[in-house]
Amino acid sequence: MAKNGGILSTVLDGVKRLAKPGVTTFQLDKFAEDSIRRAGAVPAFKGYRGYKGTLCTSINSEVVHGIPSHKRALAEGDILSLDIGLKKEGLFSDMAVTIPIGTVSDEILEFLKVSEESLVEAIAKARPGNRLGDVSYAVQRHAEEHGFSVVRDYVGHGVGYALHEEPVVPNFGKFGTGPRLESGMVLAIEPMVNMGGYEVRTLDDGWTVVTVDGSLSAHFEHSVAITDDGPRVLTRLPGKEIKGDDASA
Ligand code: MF3
Ligand code: CO
Repeated sequence: MAKNGGILSTVLDGVKRLAKPGVTTFQLDKFAEDSIRRAGAVPAFKGYRGYKGTLCTSINSEVVHGIPSHKRALAEGDILSLDIGLKKEGLFSDMAVTIPIGTVSDEILEFLKVSEESLVEAIAKARPGNRLGDVSYAVQRHAEEHGFSVVRDYVGHGVGYALHEEPVVPNFGKFGTGPRLESGMVLAIEPMVNMGGYEVRTLDDGWTVVTVDGSLSAHFEHSVAITDDGPRVLTRLPGKEIKGDDASA
């Protein structure tokens, strides 16, 4: 899974480089699919419950599951969430990032930073003996401390032989509650953080989830193994260290 995660992270890095004003989300999706297939892997989302993309491309007030489209070009000042998964040799990995397109305000940069930090805080709790609620609570505490909210209606998940395995990994919860984490578990931890209220709704396309109040939303995700040496982020760029990750440093 670490090998697959390295491939996934490398593909996503290429997508991020391509994401500039004027580029359509379809172009990003095409690049992602071609890159995954060239690596001998298969896009994990394509065909999942009828989903058509390799990526989910969610812009501004879109939270998750934005569908790549020819009609959707990136604009200066947007924020773009890129969610991607692959399957190789029977094993899945799943990750997401949110990036600014061109220049955005300091307030928005701060929002993205805090949202990513909420993932880092959660990863640091992913160790044997801790409880699942410790991971959830870490996300919620960090986001809410900075005046943001966490989405309730969508959650992280176990990942491995299937894209979605037990347990569900909420981004809100109570410290010291829930199942004990054990070495060998792999969690896709994925904070969805809104600048305004936590309420979301789904558009008529049946997929795109947006904030009810129209506020911006950010999404960061890693597939993380729980090991006796601590959290091991599987979806990291080969050779690049990740904050909160002990085992692969
Ligand atoms: N990363 C998301 C998830 O946790 C995206 C999957 S939704 C899909 O599962 F339908 F597009 F696959
Ligand atoms: Co996921």
